[in-house]
Amino acid sequence: MLRVGVLGAAGRMGRTACAAVSADPDLELVAAIDPAAGAGHGGDLEGLVVAADVSALKEAGAEVAVDFTVASAALANATWCAAHGVHLVMGTTGLDEAAVARLRQEFEEGEANCVMAPNFAIGAVLMMRFAELAAPWFDSAEIIELHHDGKLDAPSGTAALTARRVSAAVENARLSGGSGGSRGHVGGHVGSPRGLADSGDELSLSEAPGTRGSETAPGVRVHSVRLRGLVAHQEVLLGAAGQVLTIRHDSLDRASFMPGVILAVKKVPELRGFTIGLERLLGL
Ligand SMILES: NC(=O)c1ccc[n+]([C@@H]2O[C@H](COP(=O)([O-])OP(=O)(O)OC[C@H]3O[C@@H](n4cnc5c(N)ncnc54)[C@H](O)[C@@H]3O)[C@@H](O)[C@H]2O)c1
Repeated sequence: MLRVGVLGAAGRMGRTACAAVSADPDLELVAAIDPAAGAGHGGDLEGLVVAADVSALKEAGAEVAVDFTVASAALANATWCAAHGVHLVMGTTGLDEAAVARLRQEFEEGEANCVMAPNFAIGAVLMMRFAELAAPWFDSAEIIELHHDGKLDAPSGTAALTARRVSAAVENARLSGGSGGSRGHVGGHVGSPRGLADSGDELSLSEAPGTRGSETAPGVRVHSVRLRGLVAHQEVLLGAAGQVLTIRHDSLDRASFMPGVILAVKKVPELRGFTIGLERLLGL
């Protein structure tokens, strides 16, 4: 049995992670850590000793920690794990590039390993991969991401990453000479009225500000919808003459993230150093 501690155990994702770890016959939940637990948020954690500080991982003998906290706390938690030989599955988002670089160095130099993913939903990981594979064959790509109205950042990290990967896949296909034949030209037409001009259509420049989304990566625009009732959804639309391919993923519940979290928990002890994303774990 792999001994697991959850950081942010009283939060929305942390509670779901505690339940998923407890339900897995190969895992044992040994620590549930959250400074807010004493403030009445720990009701779902009955029967567990809920500690406020990451150091409780050591007392509990945790081999793997799962972090769903806040960016400001996640870096210190991760540094503690790296220094104390506890493997880490990092789900918290919002860490800047410098923080990620520091974590990479700490886990590559230390004894413990870390898997970090902006999206643990396996369907979302596959959506990004499928979009990347398909994009070089199309002329236009746009992304619509739709989230609950409590989400503060836009575009979502998943949409920004998808846009970068689609754009890079098209560029790589071009550089490797694969952009001829029936391949498309995402970025050549995308998000710009020039595409219309090229095709001989009437050129109109009367766009109201904001109506065309934002060009998050070269040639790929992202449109962000914030609506009460939604959870986390994304569509990648790929267009060519006479056809549209739509790749859509819906997270309808936080349970959608758990198979990816559990997979990472089980694999992280053997994934030496620092791993970003689930692609390697899924063999993609
Ligand atoms: N990677 C993914 O697939 C994925 C999916 C959903 C959400 N998230 C991210 O997970 C994070 C948590 O989301 P949430 O909706 O559960 O938030 P939440 O606000 O419900 O929970 C965060 C919890 O962390 C606790 N916390 C703060 N500092 C702590 C510390 N030092 N040690 C331990 N616990 C601490 C808070 O008290 C709170 O209970 C966010 O960054 C969110 O973007 C990631």
